[in-house]
Amino acid sequence: MKFIKTLIAIFTLVILFSCEPIAKENKIDVAQILEKAEKQTALLLKSSETAGRIPRTVTAEGNMHWTNKNFDWTEGFFPGTCWYLFEHTNDTIWKNAADKYQNKFEGHKNRTDNHDLGFVFNSSYGNGYRLTKNEAFKDVMLTASNSLITRFNPAVGCIQSWDVEYGWQSKRNWQFPVIIDNMMNLELLFEVSELTGDTTYKDIAISHANTTMKNHFREDYSSYHVVDYDLITGEVRAKQTAQGFADNSSWARGQAWAVYGYTVCYRYTKDVKYLELAEHIANYIINYKETPKDGIPYWDYNAQNIPNEPRDASAAAITVSALIELNEYSKQDYQNSIDKILSSLASKEYTAELGTNHNFILKHSVGSIPHNNEIDVPLNYADYYYVEALLRYKSFLSKN
Ligand code: GLY
Repeated sequence: MKFIKTLIAIFTLVILFSCEPIAKENKIDVAQILEKAEKQTALLLKSSETAGRIPRTVTAEGNMHWTNKNFDWTEGFFPGTCWYLFEHTNDTIWKNAADKYQNKFEGHKNRTDNHDLGFVFNSSYGNGYRLTKNEAFKDVMLTASNSLITRFNPAVGCIQSWDVEYGWQSKRNWQFPVIIDNMMNLELLFEVSELTGDTTYKDIAISHANTTMKNHFREDYSSYHVVDYDLITGEVRAKQTAQGFADNSSWARGQAWAVYGYTVCYRYTKDVKYLELAEHIANYIINYKETPKDGIPYWDYNAQNIPNEPRDASAAAITVSALIELNEYSKQDYQNSIDKILSSLASKEYTAELGTNHNFILKHSVGSIPHNNEIDVPLNYADYYYVEALLRYKSFLSKN
């Protein structure tokens, strides 16, 4: 009997010790990671101050690439990261930097030729208003929302993503393209409805989310990148891709935008169909068999040469930020996936040494392989969603 008890004790110890490395591997020292992120961004701010420009990425030749002064869908993310660092540190250096760099594109609030106003103005002025209650910031959000909703077509039920009269997109024979990324522009509209009491913005956001829910998803809850609509009848004309590997493939960042976008829809509406869709998308991402053990996806889940394809840290950063919020609402438990992705992003493989990587925090993201643009580079939005995820994680730890 004693022998059997000893055997059971040894067996239990073996099980316990064999589990420990996994727990250790994924251990996240969020304060230390944030400290490192702040130091690196302080260096990035220094180079921005010298150039007077907003950093976006690094070129194939290894030079800093600043945002386009005329308009750049990524221009809100650098001031947005500064707002998050202000939130974390309460240091006015970050508040002043955020204010200064978002001011550079304030005039873009009047643009009606682009759907990215939600990305641009929510990450910058939206965070600024949340943290400071500066009424002038709220006015900017309202003007940007009014510009954005000019692109809503009631026959389709969506906000048009790209104009089709010029640029590379004019060669695609589209009438009214809507990309899954556009789900990310809805947060600005939901927020502006809450701030003003005017439900116009929220109603448009809900219509867009419902139409996208109907047409963008496959049976396995992966998403098409582009759905093109007939602008008169609202009928679906085509389901295709622009930044993914193929029309039928699952572009990794698209899946990330989808899970984030529907989590936000649930936050504002508490409509359970959005929660369920977000859970399905999350499960698709988490359970995808060919994603490596570290949880950082290849740039497209169906890319042709997996495992010899670039990973996309930006998709992982967006996803993990969404999962932390989703975890609050869902009965499912995403903790293991959150810990795995965050600890991978915080590892040497994805986090740059201080002063390297042109002072961006994360390495190994992908902009658009079909456009041969930004392949295996740092991206300002990878850093933004990573810092956001770290703050969300910190807040989660303080409550639990
Ligand atoms: N359109 C935003 C992106 O490239 O993900």
